[in-house]
Amino acid sequence: MLTDAYARRFSYLRLSVTEICNFRCSYCLPDGNDCDSRAGELTLSEIKRLVTAFAKLGTRKVRITGGEPSLRKDLTEIIATCKAIPGIEKVALTTNGYRLKRDALAWQQAGLDAVNVSVDSLDADTFHLVTGQDKLADILDGITHAKAIGIKQVKINTVLLKQHNALALPDFLKFVQQQAIALRFIELMRTGDNAGFYQRQHLSGASIQQQLLAQGWQLNTKANTDGPALEYSHPAYQGQIGLIMPYSKDFCADCNRLRVSSKGQLYLCLFTDSHQDLRRLLQSDNSAPLMHFLQQAVQGKAFSHQLAADYSGSTRHLAQIGG
Ligand code: 5AD
Ligand code: SF4
Repeated sequence: MLTDAYARRFSYLRLSVTEICNFRCSYCLPDGNDCDSRAGELTLSEIKRLVTAFAKLGTRKVRITGGEPSLRKDLTEIIATCKAIPGIEKVALTTNGYRLKRDALAWQQAGLDAVNVSVDSLDADTFHLVTGQDKLADILDGITHAKAIGIKQVKINTVLLKQHNALALPDFLKFVQQQAIALRFIELMRTGDNAGFYQRQHLSGASIQQQLLAQGWQLNTKANTDGPALEYSHPAYQGQIGLIMPYSKDFCADCNRLRVSSKGQLYLCLFTDSHQDLRRLLQSDNSAPLMHFLQQAVQGKAFSHQLAADYSGSTRHLAQIGG
């Protein structure tokens, strides 16, 4: 088992498979990628060895992230490889949705259990403005398609932005009234590159929480594999609304996740200065040295991030490690 000094158990691996993204979200990659970002991505066999070692240490869920994971030509094979590893019960994907309509069926057949799609606005022009891609309708079609072909869990991630979606709660609520889907609002997080944007656009999830409670939404009880989202339901709505508030007190107390970047670096937290290179331990099928390394490394995981003190570590943007 991977357990840290605060008795937190890590059963959830977030694995970035590429830093590359074709969107230009204003809080993440407003100017697109740096040019050499594709160099040195983990290969399929390195991914297999990595996830095997994590699974032997109790990892049950793998989320494939990026960048935009669907820009990897072997994404379907990556999904199938992760799903086939003994111990891995759930394979999830976070995507901007660009390839959802085209590839969801292949991903589902490869064993994908869950997909989270980023949709920061339900207004086409605002969506274009925020992401640099005029693709809202296409992506919403992709979401409908993913549900229709039987991907068990399809969720939407919406980053809260003061200028663009602070007043749009009624639109989002109307959407989940008609659709059995979980939509989660994520508070904008400060990273190395977005300090100015963060200052202008950060909106606390607490204001959304108050509006939900006032309208009769009720907090669901959590299963222990759940992440840090607070989920709310309402009898008159088919879908659920979730809130992810990384700036709230105790957010890190039940952290159950570790991250590995697309270049094979272990990150104990999104907001840290340090990472450890796992690549040299991925060159043989013998899991023991990597398992030993991971067990030692998690002992160095800090109890909490220091975001409240305006410290976001050395992460420039979330495409670097996986959001
Ligand atoms: N703050 C909050 N969410 C972010 N994401 C990317 N960067 C940030 C940030 N700075 C989100 C994306 C996507 C998920 C992977 O992380 O919008 O939904
Ligand atoms: Fe791409 Fe996701 Fe970053 Fe947007 S948030 S630019 S979709 S990696």
